[in-house]
This record gives sequence, structure tokens and C-alpha cells, in this order.
Amino acid sequence: MLEDTSFAIHPGQNQAMENGSYRDVGTVKSIQKRDGGLTFICDEADIHLQFYRSDIVRVVMNQRDIPDLESTPAVVAALESVNVDIEETDSRVLVTTNRLVVSVSKQPFRFSVLTPDGQVIVSEGDRGIGFKENGEVICYKKMEPEDRFYGFGEKSGFLDKRGETYTMWNTDVYAPHNPETDPLYQSIPYFMALRNGRAYGIYFDNPSKTTFDMKTEQEVYSFKGDSGKLDYYVFAGEGPKDVIEQYTHITGRMPLPPKWAIGYHQSRYSYESEEEVRALANTFKEKGIPLDVIYLDIHYMDEYRVFTFDKDRFPNPKKLVQDLREEGIRVVPIVDPGVKKDPEYLAYQEGVRNDHFCKYLEGDIYFGDVWPGTSAFPDFTDERTQKWWGKMHEFYTDLGIEGIWNDMNEPAVFNETKTMDTSVIHKNDGDPKTHRQLHNLYGLLMGKATYEGMERNLNGKRPFLLTRAGFAGVQRFASVWTGDNRSFWEHLQMSLPMCMNLGLSGVAFTGPDVGGFAHDTNGELLTRWTQVGAFTPYFRNHSAIGTLYQEPWQFGEKYEAIMKRYIELRYEWLPQLYSLFHEAHTKGLPIMRPLMLEYPRDAKTYAIHDQFMIGDNTLIAPIMQPEVTDRAVYFPEGEWIDYFSGKVYEGGTTHLVHAELDTLPLFIKRGTLIAQSPIRTKTEQKELELHVYAHTKGSYNSSVYDDDGETTNYYSGEAMKLNLSIQCKDHQIAISYRNDNEMEWPLPYKKCSFILHGLVDDQQVWVNGERQSGVWTEQGLKVEVTI
Ligand code: GLC
Repeated sequence: MLEDTSFAIHPGQNQAMENGSYRDVGTVKSIQKRDGGLTFICDEADIHLQFYRSDIVRVVMNQRDIPDLESTPAVVAALESVNVDIEETDSRVLVTTNRLVVSVSKQPFRFSVLTPDGQVIVSEGDRGIGFKENGEVICYKKMEPEDRFYGFGEKSGFLDKRGETYTMWNTDVYAPHNPETDPLYQSIPYFMALRNGRAYGIYFDNPSKTTFDMKTEQEVYSFKGDSGKLDYYVFAGEGPKDVIEQYTHITGRMPLPPKWAIGYHQSRYSYESEEEVRALANTFKEKGIPLDVIYLDIHYMDEYRVFTFDKDRFPNPKKLVQDLREEGIRVVPIVDPGVKKDPEYLAYQEGVRNDHFCKYLEGDIYFGDVWPGTSAFPDFTDERTQKWWGKMHEFYTDLGIEGIWNDMNEPAVFNETKTMDTSVIHKNDGDPKTHRQLHNLYGLLMGKATYEGMERNLNGKRPFLLTRAGFAGVQRFASVWTGDNRSFWEHLQMSLPMCMNLGLSGVAFTGPDVGGFAHDTNGELLTRWTQVGAFTPYFRNHSAIGTLYQEPWQFGEKYEAIMKRYIELRYEWLPQLYSLFHEAHTKGLPIMRPLMLEYPRDAKTYAIHDQFMIGDNTLIAPIMQPEVTDRAVYFPEGEWIDYFSGKVYEGGTTHLVHAELDTLPLFIKRGTLIAQSPIRTKTEQKELELHVYAHTKGSYNSSVYDDDGETTNYYSGEAMKLNLSIQCKDHQIAISYRNDNEMEWPLPYKKCSFILHGLVDDQQVWVNGERQSGVWTEQGLKVEVTI
């Protein structure tokens, strides 16, 4: 109660931290081969090493039994059969694959991973694996002075997480998100460490409360779980991109979203009636501001009952959805997990009759208070309940709805603990466990139930799902927004490292509430935020009840014109962004990237939290303070061209860049290219422009991906993949392209042209081996081609 007064630091509140009470697993007594690995029978516990892939090793410890190898639903990869060489001496076992060497010393059990040429990747010292009688498990690793830490999913604070501790326990936090506010809504017990340009990763596959500590000690870090197994994967790297590939091999990659989901989204808690929604859509149309999605927050429902509409406020939802669809706008309603306790309400009746709700061991349904008042919570750990919930979404798909917004799915409950009673039992497909043991899975499994249900209901169309809570693997089902931020400049600043670390944690499709959710925004903040939002993978303006309305026109024409321009820019950049979404789908790589991901050997990039990259060649350094029009920008090696002015900046150093309110500092690396469409309005585009930033040296490869943007036909190869390469020499720039689509698929673009920026006087342009004269335009030389 008094925790926001000085009582919080009352001496009685701060007991000394317990330490040293973990029991070590002890000495290896014998070793057995089984399940694609080795089990080490130790004095106090048994540990199993499994070679999941030649560059991924899994370690499982269960202090009571031979470790069971069951994984959480986060893990989707199958165990591969890996060729290993095993060498054993009295003191040590060495297991070698073609990508890594595992070294286990026996007295006591200590585990290290090395490169085949003997470089240490991960190692343990005085302490290794331990546990407590109460079920806690822990693992310590050595930390070198140069180690940097990234990932951990959705965390506030700066980019590099060294010197921090983080807890994973999905929590609804409305209180301002400060650098110390932890945990938040998502739990992704995974990180990547970078040591002098070489990276490795660890994923701790435990859905109970887990804690990572890179703060308490100088030479050691640890991760521990409140209950369950110690079950973790080491990803051997070697670059940070390899680690992401390895981590997303285990936990999966995002499906391609429907194209409309990467356009501009407008939301508010709430647009409260059909009339208001129609007026909103009209204003966008009148003002010529492109818009793909309008959200319906909790007011659309009949007293917050999910799968209903309030008949007075929304008398004809089907017509509303249809009419907006004709204007090219989709409606995405919010769906929370709490089902109102009401014996006359179908969802509640079905849930009770068919045993879909979470219950206590003794058989009583667990009830908690959320928006609808007393509510029951579906037990998404049971596949039967997932199917039921998915089918319930026919209510929405029958109205023509293709996207859903999941909120309050930590699950949030309005009580002191903020969540469900931890003693509630989950059915867990026949392996019952308490909520304490499975808490962090609730949002992920609600997402799975919703996404898969929508996919079934939509018959071949791609659904879109937005979620607040999740766990490792959430990228397979949903886009993640970062919850209830505030309209503070500090929260704009914080959203960059937050989204970048989510991206490094496998969640590419992410963004904050643009403009800030709580508190009142203002014209300048909203404008600067919209400029950034135009380049974050997920782009939604959302604000809270009782705050100033913050649609792009609310603060006057000066701001509106700039925001409109940046929302249009988003649409011009869609071919580039969509190709990057495809890279996230195939390789797991984020769209919004910290500079260290592209330049892992450049130590100056390691802590940069106020700049980011889009793909491998676009650098963005937003202005994130009021009335500021100049800022320092660090440019990595190479030359960088100001997207708007064409000014060239020499890389490897910091420059002062000027940017009035109408300008987002945006730079393209010289010698590379970006794909754009000149059409500024909608996600359906007909022209492809490939902007080449000419150089006098070097080469660059990339690809432009496209497909129908709305069906799942891309799974069977109905897509265009245009592989491009550029070779720059003093007097020549040679471009080549090849359409690598495997299947006959009508190409989406009627026209395609290369636009060459910054050609030097006598530079010749060659495309697919033919000399081109092209046509000179304001932007540069334009060469039209047919793909
Ligand atoms: C939560 C969500 C917010 C939403 C509100 C009402 O606070 O985080 O986005 O608008 O609930 O549904």
C-alpha cells in the first residue's frame, strides 16, 4: 500500500539478499549416452547434454530424476542427428561437432563451449549449476570485462544490458515505464552476448519466474528459475546475426503479415461508436492521409463481454466493417481473455459447460476482476480450449474482420498481485501444473489459440494479431506493441532500445504506441514520434481515455502536414519494408536493428540506443527532445547519403546533423540500394522503383520480395524474389537482377525502374550486361526495365 512513499525504504523492508545457499550438482559419477546426447550422473543431480544442431547445444538439469526432455511450447525445432566425436579422460569429456566443442570437467561438473579452434565461447568457474530444495534452479557463467548483453525481450532502459538484472514474469504495468520498471508484459528469457565482435546466445526455456543477473557480480552472471527445470540452449554464433538465426531456429520465425498490417494504424481507447469510427475514417479520407487500420477498443463490446457488440453504440458492425473495407480500411477489435461471469452469456456458458476455464485443484473455477467485472479465464494450456477459443472468433471473421488485438493477457487481474492466483491449476494437455509454474505462457498460448483459429476461419487469408503479453516464440503468432507508455519525450527515447532488443529476441514486428498512450501528447512530440513510427515495423498511433485526442490533425496544420508526409513515406518504403519482413520470416532477422548487429566489430556501435538501422543499409537518427534541431549522429564505416538533401557523410566518425521539425535524419549507405514505390497512398502498389546510391567502389547484394500480400499462397512459393547485385568501379556501375520466383506468379508490378542517385560524371550504367542511357530526372538517372 505504502510502496510509493518512503515506507518503501523502511529498514524492515530490505532484508539482506540471500546468497550461497544453492547446492552444486557436484562431481560426475558416470556418463550415459541417450536421446541424442550424454547424461552426466552427478553427486546431487543429473544433467543431460543434447546436440540440437551442430551449432546449438542444450543443457537440461533436473535435481530429482533423470532430466525429462519435454520442452515448453516455445520450442519448435526438432532435434537433429549431429555427428559428434567424444573423447573422455579421467578429468574431462570433450564432445566435438563441426561447429563447436563442449568441454565438461568432471570434478565438479563444469561446462564450457569453445570454437573448434579453441576460443572460449561460454565457460563456468567456481560455480556452475545449482538448485535449492524449494525447487529453484540456477546457472552461473563467467563474464569478461568486454562482454555486452542484448535481447531479454521487452525491457526498458538502454540497449546494452550489462549491469542490469531482469525478471521474467508477465506483468500489466500501467505505472510509468521507467528504466527500472521490470518486469513488463513480455517474458523472453533469452539474451545474446557480444565479446569483441563475436557473439553467442542463451535461451532459458523455463516459463516460471526467471531472473537474469548481470549486475550483482563483476566476473560472473547468472540466470535462475523459481521452479521447473534448468533447461537452456547455447547458440554458438559466431556473428550476432548467426545467433538470431540459431535462436529463431529453436523458437520459430514470424509468418508474413498481410500487407495492410504494415501500413498506418489509428487507435484510441476508445472510438466509442459506429458514428465516431465512420467520422474518423472520413477525416482521414478528406485529408488524404493514408490509413489501413482502425482499432476498436473495449467500448465496442456489450459491457466488455468478448464476442459481442454493444447494440446501441454499434448497431450494425457488419455494415461498418464492409463500408470501411471498401475505403481500404480494416477494423481490428480488442479481445481480452477475461470472460464475464454471466449465466446468460454464451461464451461463459460454453466455457463452464465444456470445462474451458482455469480452476483450482479442488475444482472451483478461478474468478478475477477485469474490465467486465468478475471473470473466468480460458485455460489456453489445453489444446481443446485453444480450438474452442479459435472457433469463437468466427464471431469476428463472419463480420469480415481479419485482425485481432489481444490485451490483458499476462493475464492481468485487478488485484494486489496483478495476475491470476499462482495456485490455480492448468491442464497443460494432460500434464497439470500450477499457474506459478506456467504463468509466462498464458499470453503466448492465447496468441496461438487466436492466430490459429483466425487462420482456420479465414480460409487461406493471412490473419493479423497484435498482442501485449507473450513468451519466447511469440513472433510465430503476433506482432508486439510495448504496452502503456506515456506521452513523454523520454518514452519516445526508450522505445528505440526496447524495440531493438525485442528485435534481437526474435520479435521483428514491434513498435510502441506512437504519440504515447497515457498523459497528453503535443504537436511537436507527436510529429517527431510519427517520423520514427514511419520506420518502426509496427506503426500505430494509440492514446488513452481522458487524454487529448492525438490523430495527426489534432494539433494544427503545421504538424498535420509533416505527419501526413511521413505516413506517406511509410507507404513509399513498403517494398523495402516488406522485403525485410520476408527476411524476418525466413531468417528471423529484425527489421529495426541496432547498429551493433550490422557492425559487430565496431565497438562504437555497442551502446548506441538513440539511432537504429532499417535492414543493412539505412540509418535513422531521430530527434527526440523538444525544440532541438541538431544532433550528433554516429556513422559506421562507409559513406552515408542524407536521404532528403543528398549530402554525403564520411563514416567511422560522428557528425553534427541539422534537422528542422519537418526532417527525420535518414541516411542510406553509399553503394547500396532500396526498393520503393512512388505511390503514396495504399498498400496496393503497382510501381517498383529501385533507388541505387551510386559509388565508385565496392559491391552490394540484396533482394526485393513480393507476393499477393494477403493469402498464404506464399507458403507454396507464389512469390517474386528479385535478387539484385551492384558492382561499382570508377567509371562503371553494373547492376544485375534476376527474378528467382520458383512458380509462375503474376508479377505485382507493372513497371520497374532503377533510379541512380549520385552518379559521377562519366560513370557508365550497365544493367544485366547492357549499357543504359536512361532518362535524367530530378532524382537521378532513370532506367526502366521489365522483370
Ligand atoms: C490496456 C491496454 C491499452 C488499452 C486499454 C483498454 O491498458 O494496454 O492499450 O487501450 O487497456 O483496453
